[in-house]
Amino acid sequence: MKFGILTSGGDCSGLNAVIRAIGLYLEENVRDAEIVGIPDGYGGLIRGESFPLRRNDFENIIGLGGTILRTSRQPYKLMTVSENGSSRLERMCENYRKMGLDCLFTLGGAGTHKTAALLSMEGCNVVGVPKTIDNDIYGTDVTFGFQTAVEVATEAIDRIRTTAASHSRTMLVEIMGNKAGWLTLYTGIAAGADMILIPEIPFSVDAVCDFVAAQRRSGKTHTIVAVAEGAVLASEVKFKRSERVFVRTERGENTVTQHLAEILQERTGFETRTSVLGYLQRGGTPCAYDRLLSTRLGGFAAKLAADGKFGVTAAVSGNRITFNALTDIAGKYKFVDPEGDTVRFAKSIGIGFGI
Ligand code: F6P
Repeated sequence: MKFGILTSGGDCSGLNAVIRAIGLYLEENVRDAEIVGIPDGYGGLIRGESFPLRRNDFENIIGLGGTILRTSRQPYKLMTVSENGSSRLERMCENYRKMGLDCLFTLGGAGTHKTAALLSMEGCNVVGVPKTIDNDIYGTDVTFGFQTAVEVATEAIDRIRTTAASHSRTMLVEIMGNKAGWLTLYTGIAAGADMILIPEIPFSVDAVCDFVAAQRRSGKTHTIVAVAEGAVLASEVKFKRSERVFVRTERGENTVTQHLAEILQERTGFETRTSVLGYLQRGGTPCAYDRLLSTRLGGFAAKLAADGKFGVTAAVSGNRITFNALTDIAGKYKFVDPEGDTVRFAKSIGIGFGI
């Protein structure tokens, strides 16, 4: 059997550990398995590019960040648009057949899974593996890459705290996560942030200012606010995402963090600074938890393929590795429940959410 592997969308720690687990499982369990890597995610499949992967390609990569296959973002909305006589989807299906693939592994996030579902509906045998630091893929408790990002961001806030304390400052730490606030919520709690602002809980500037002022009045000398890049003001909720982006771009900002910092400093009188953690959270070596999770997910995905189970994606439910039909999860996201246990617990110990 011939297997292709691609990594698509934003990278994260653990991609190479998944590639390794798929490769090793197939080498160990499928007679005459031929494995190829497809470079640059769906980009390589659209262009019809692949290269052989052999056992020694899987050596020494479990702890390596990034992806040995490289990745790219290929917008889902362009997949079925005809360009020069054929769509990207048609070219991918044609190349899948020309390459003689029996199965394609797609390692990626929500967008990757949507395209994987399209490929599957067009008759390609696809098995997905859920990747993203955002942890927002529907149907899985956790995605690989998330825990490493939590660890990195938590350590960053630990470091920011000592400088915030030295200067008696308010620090807004911007954490990745455009649609969902998982990374900010988990990091904020783990790092002992005073306040957490996430897209699922639109916040009010007045509430944030009042919270910080009250904290200082009660004797606290510095404040840490974990802000998701996708955090939204309650007053912005009525606008579409594109409209919010337009307003922010006019102000020369991508996110709400800088805007909030300026208002906070002006209204509370305390020095306020911002730190955008950015791609630090995606790069570097995966933590042990992610290496283990990636190995379990990758090995399981390979077993699904070896057993002829296609059109699915590996997933975690409880502590079990399981799978979902791509068509059941494509286009859906997993959001933080504002009324759920974790938020309620955080509130119960005094963490503010800007409401
Ligand atoms: O991969 C997820 C993510 O890191 C999001 O948290 C973030 O909004 C986005 O990717 C950034 O994308 P890009 O790599 O295209 O700048």
